[in-house]
Amino acid sequence: MPTTIIGARVHGRPNYLAVAWCNIVNQNPPYVCIALSKRHYTNAGIHQNRSFSVNIPSAAMARETDYCGIYSGAKTDKSQLFQAFYGKLKTTPMVSECPLNIECRLLRVIDIVDHELFIGEIIAVYADADCLENGKPDAGKINPLIFSRADNNYFALGDAVAPAWQVGRER
Ligand SMILES: Cc1cc2nc3c(=O)[nH]c(=O)nc-3n(C[C@H](O)[C@H](O)[C@H](O)COP(=O)(O)O)c2cc1C
Repeated sequence: MPTTIIGARVHGRPNYLAVAWCNIVNQNPPYVCIALSKRHYTNAGIHQNRSFSVNIPSAAMARETDYCGIYSGAKTDKSQLFQAFYGKLKTTPMVSECPLNIECRLLRVIDIVDHELFIGEIIAVYADADCLENGKPDAGKINPLIFSRADNNYFALGDAVAPAWQVGRER
């Protein structure tokens, strides 16, 4: 699972939390879904501003990412942790230090027992120029932070193993 940093404005201030439960759930238009515990401080801000950001930290950002995942904005001010920038929606802070940022407009919230699933439409994607290869984000250059719940460790990305939608044809 790639670990993401979700950004939202909560009570007028940027707040960030670590989220591993994040996935693309529709291709065209592109939608992304994040699962947040109802106990988190960030949820209210996503409801208030109808927007959130998905930021992909590099492996070098393990310490800052983990900090976001340990301390709640309810007690700890995380607003100054990163250099925030704003995109098209003007309502959701994004993390300048992350090589990839995805700006989302909230579409729907699904209540699931003790979590809320926030489904957002991707409005814009911002990428550092040095993380692109032929104009597209390059996983090796981004070097995302991979989280394993099995042993509670962060890993860096390994080598590419085989080309998708191709290696299966060679069976
Ligand atoms: C590696 C990692 C992954 C996490 N993934 C999730 C997640 O997918 N969903 C979630 O609700 N909380 C997740 N958390 C916990 C929140 O990031 C954490 O409780 C955070 O402090 C909540 O911040 P907030 O109260 O300011 O919103 C994760 C924490 C870590 C360290």
